[in-house]
Amino acid sequence: MNPQPDLDAAWAGVFAEADKARSRRIADLFAQPDRAERFSARALGMLFDYSKTHIDGPARAALLALARAARVETMRDAMFSGARINRSEDRAVLHAALRNLSGTPVLLDGQDVMPGILDTLERMKAFASDIRSGRFTGQVGAITDVVNIGIGGSDLGPAMATRALAPCHDGPRCHFVSNVDSADLADVLRGLDPATTLVIIASKTFTTIETMTNAASIRDWMAAHVSDPAAQFVALSSATDRAADFGIPPERVFAFEDWVGGRYSVWGPIGLSLMIAIGPEDFTEFLHGGAAMDAHFRDTPLADNLPVLLALVGLWHHQAMGFATRAVLPYENRLARLPAYLQQLEMESNGKRVGQGGQPLPHGSGPVVWGEPGTNGQHAFFQLLHQGTGIVPCEFMIGAAGHEPDLAHHHRLLAANCLAQSEALMTGRGLAEARALAAAEGYSGDALNAQAEQRVFEGNRPSTTLAYPRLTPRVLGQITALYEHRVFVEGVILGLNSFDQWGVELGKDLAKRLEPLVSGDIPPEDVNPSTALLAAYLRAPG
Ligand code: F6P
Repeated sequence: MNPQPDLDAAWAGVFAEADKARSRRIADLFAQPDRAERFSARALGMLFDYSKTHIDGPARAALLALARAARVETMRDAMFSGARINRSEDRAVLHAALRNLSGTPVLLDGQDVMPGILDTLERMKAFASDIRSGRFTGQVGAITDVVNIGIGGSDLGPAMATRALAPCHDGPRCHFVSNVDSADLADVLRGLDPATTLVIIASKTFTTIETMTNAASIRDWMAAHVSDPAAQFVALSSATDRAADFGIPPERVFAFEDWVGGRYSVWGPIGLSLMIAIGPEDFTEFLHGGAAMDAHFRDTPLADNLPVLLALVGLWHHQAMGFATRAVLPYENRLARLPAYLQQLEMESNGKRVGQGGQPLPHGSGPVVWGEPGTNGQHAFFQLLHQGTGIVPCEFMIGAAGHEPDLAHHHRLLAANCLAQSEALMTGRGLAEARALAAAEGYSGDALNAQAEQRVFEGNRPSTTLAYPRLTPRVLGQITALYEHRVFVEGVILGLNSFDQWGVELGKDLAKRLEPLVSGDIPPEDVNPSTALLAAYLRAPG
């Protein structure tokens, strides 16, 4: 017997609406009065416009019914209440507690986790202040550079946010080394002075091979130049014993618990490099932004709830309309690392094949997520977005203002480009107009026909736009938590666990096994002939 008849019926309702939607033109939906206002939502000073999609009233009703049938609100409350919703790892999911500055307890198995979190936050603030003020001197003077060694969630969050908040930087320079490719470490270390460099080893597990390899190499670099290298090392980890084994004293270990997933960890110790760059006050603003989005997510009805709406639009595009990927297009150059950050957040969370009970997912997993800041993308892949044969729903982001008032004309151009792209994707350009354009250029006959076809834009390509006042620490916190909860809602409705990542294990295991093959220490017969051929080439190219 089907255990979830309501959910199946709700999905069927969504698919039925999508079938109707395929034949409609998005632009025609604006014949209905107030569509832009009715298919957008405002919260925390931000505006989310989803009116340039195929979603109409009945489709939205069907999507909201889907969210209710999937018990999104119940699951949300379970997450915030410390239930072990990450079943395959038997863990609670409490990263939101890292940004809870309200004084409200957060209980896990009846114990308030907040005292531990706030204690660590105070230690981070004190340490960051010491670094920024020059009170922490290392061995020869104030720290000028900070190198964060970490990968995945121990890199992408702080790297994304540090870049995003460049106007707030007033601390030492922060650098991020993630790749085991020696180029990453070498390029960052070139020009740094070991005597004035602080090294942060960021790893939840303190076992990740890339991070441990980079950590050992940077320790060697430091040891070659300073007498007490350990004095300039910090660890951010859940594995405090392993950090101690590495030689980092407890006063410079900032710990977090296993109920903070790596890709959700920027709010706590993993954000130390960000805090050093922008200062404890701005970091606290970032936390407040995240907490405000938590409150919005918890307290707002589904129909006006930004994370829920983003999730429903995402499911509509991928599951219901069948669009394979989605593009994230921040018209905000400082969000250059946001697409990479979201790739981990969304694809490591929701790129799954089975549900919590191990059964195949009835409606598949989340989509491929990719992107690049505008306007750069316009001069690269936007050709395909406008005229390619596959449709890519676009998620635009734009601030009302930039941080350079004396260059406000740049921002006006940026905003105009953002608006122009979503409008062009939707309205397109018909054959008659294209013919007129080609004719005006002097074409006639067959040449005119051919030229006109090149200039046709089918349009009817969906997009959403998230607009915000300005990319401040608080707004970045809001946006980051918005996407976290969007991923959660999509995962709940798809019936999967957004908080484990078994799919990264096989490749890791094989890499360990193949390292001796690359070195020539194991016979090639033990592996597939293609792999053996490649390894032989890498040992002796030619
Ligand atoms: O391999 C994937 C992963 O486990 C991510 O989930 C995580 O963010 C990353 O590796 C880094 O892990 P750690 O912080 O334990 O070094």
